[in-house]
Amino acid sequence: MRATILSFASVALAARPWMSQPDTGIEGQLGNITGLPDIDSLVGIPDFEWVAQRVLNISSYTYYSNGAAGEWSYRNNLEVFQRYALRPRVVVDTTGIESTLPTKILGYNFSAPFFIAPAARAGFAHPEAEANLVNGAAESNILYVPSQHGTLTMAQIGDVHKNTSQVTFQQSYPPNDNDTEAKELFKQIEDAGNKAIFLTVDSAADGNRHRAARYQVGTLPNYGPNAVPTSYTKMTWEMYRKWQNFTSLPIVPKGIQTVDDARLAVQNGAPAIYLSNHGGRQVDTSRAPLEVAIKIYQEAPEIFKQVEVYADGGVRYGADIVKLLALGVHAVGIARPFMFSNVYGVDGVKRAVEMFKHELAIDASNVGVADVHQISPDIVDWSQPTNYWYS
Ligand SMILES: Cc1cc2nc3c(=O)[nH]c(=O)nc-3n(C[C@H](O)[C@H](O)[C@H](O)COP(=O)(O)O)c2cc1C
Ligand SMILES: *[C@@H]1O[C@H](CO)[C@@H](O)[C@H](O)[C@H]1NC(C)=O
Ligand SMILES: *[C@@H]1O[C@H](CO)[C@@H](O)[C@H](O)[C@H]1NC(C)=O
Ligand SMILES: *[C@@H]1O[C@H](CO)[C@@H](O)[C@H](O)[C@H]1NC(C)=O
Ligand SMILES: *[C@@H]1O[C@H](CO)[C@@H](O)[C@H](O)[C@H]1NC(C)=O
Ligand SMILES: *[C@@H]1O[C@H](CO)[C@@H](O)[C@H](O)[C@H]1NC(C)=O
Ligand SMILES: *[C@@H]1O[C@H](CO)[C@@H](O)[C@H](O)[C@H]1NC(C)=O
Repeated sequence: MRATILSFASVALAARPWMSQPDTGIEGQLGNITGLPDIDSLVGIPDFEWVAQRVLNISSYTYYSNGAAGEWSYRNNLEVFQRYALRPRVVVDTTGIESTLPTKILGYNFSAPFFIAPAARAGFAHPEAEANLVNGAAESNILYVPSQHGTLTMAQIGDVHKNTSQVTFQQSYPPNDNDTEAKELFKQIEDAGNKAIFLTVDSAADGNRHRAARYQVGTLPNYGPNAVPTSYTKMTWEMYRKWQNFTSLPIVPKGIQTVDDARLAVQNGAPAIYLSNHGGRQVDTSRAPLEVAIKIYQEAPEIFKQVEVYADGGVRYGADIVKLLALGVHAVGIARPFMFSNVYGVDGVKRAVEMFKHELAIDASNVGVADVHQISPDIVDWSQPTNYWYS
């Protein structure tokens, strides 16, 4: 009896597999690589992370992969999609599915209902840094939202995208409570040729990032002799309304995590809202955006009609996109996979876009969806989250 309890305990305490790296056999095929494997040998989005982990140094890989504290939110962002089972409908004509992918985002035409979410420091993966993301997005005609903290400056990124005439939106953190500074920031964003501002509202303080703190990537030492004082960001809805008057560009709050704040954003004139927990990088146990979208669907579904709703966090497969769109999300953001794909430069970015488009089309088709913009919420069983995929 005692032995049984002990062996049960040791199994229970063993680490569960890290779901960002499912076992799909890549180790067996490419396990002995010494450099970048041929891009044609990659079969899915998780393969890019597998490669990046092997070709980047540990501080660069850590910067991209890390989540806050115990990384439970990051894991949950990934795993929550598996908890909601599909209810595939059959005997539906879905042969036109690929032609339904094009999507307007804030009035601009793109080839897909997903976009490259803002992530800082693309230079950790490739010397051309953000230029690859701009050019890859342009060649694939998808939206790219560069981060304010890129390896390249906003103006340098602007020079690349003006060259491609591709529409970009700029991510920004809230400016200080100083009207001159705010106006200068928005003018820089306009001058770089952007068509909208995604204003990140989920980062009132530094992210609580243990893994990154080991290498001081994306977080600064808060303890010991080199400690840097924490900075807190001031922002109110009143400031938000004032800033909307400082620029002709729409300002979309990025990082909405509750139904209450979704309502407040709409009441304060947000032209769109962006559900995100910053990839689980700010505060651990923040809800996955899929869960927030479910809450809005249940408690305030009118919001999906009032404004465009975007969402990001843990999207790695076509079916993940299908589930968010089914709730009424208009477009889906993806960050880490594109940062990892950048180890191949522009070709990697384009291949990741192709993979997401292909999987979105076949997964939608296999659940009986004829048009990605007309997905019934009923194609997912939202009533019974389940853990039976692993236990
Ligand atoms: C390496 C990295 C850097 C990021 N930098 C920013 C940033 O500068 N501004 C921002 O609003 N969000 C930033 N994010 C958050 C992403 O925009 C996005 O919300 C999140 O990562 C999506 O989850 P995913 O990486 O699982 O797709 C960053 C994410 C990563 C992974
Ligand atoms: C290891 O590399 C050699 C060539 O260097 C290749 O022939 C072999 O198939 C590889 N094995 C695996 C398991 O990848
Ligand atoms: C955007 O796409 C629509 C079709 O959905 C088309 O009528 C319109 O001309 C396109 N606009 C631009 C600027 O390409
Ligand atoms: C890792 O690589 C990045 C990008 O090439 C570089 O900036 C950084 O200094 C490297 N870090 C270490 C610890 O080698
Ligand atoms: C602009 O585009 C041309 C042609 O595609 C390319 O050769 C050039 O390198 C681009 N410039 C920048 C700054 O990306
Ligand atoms: C506001 O910002 C401007 C421009 O950076 C600066 O000159 C001015 O001193 C700031 N005002 C205050 C009150 O800090
Ligand atoms: C924004 O501008 C409008 C019209 O100029 C004005 O009525 C409104 O009070 C301004 N809002 C804020 C918050 O400053």
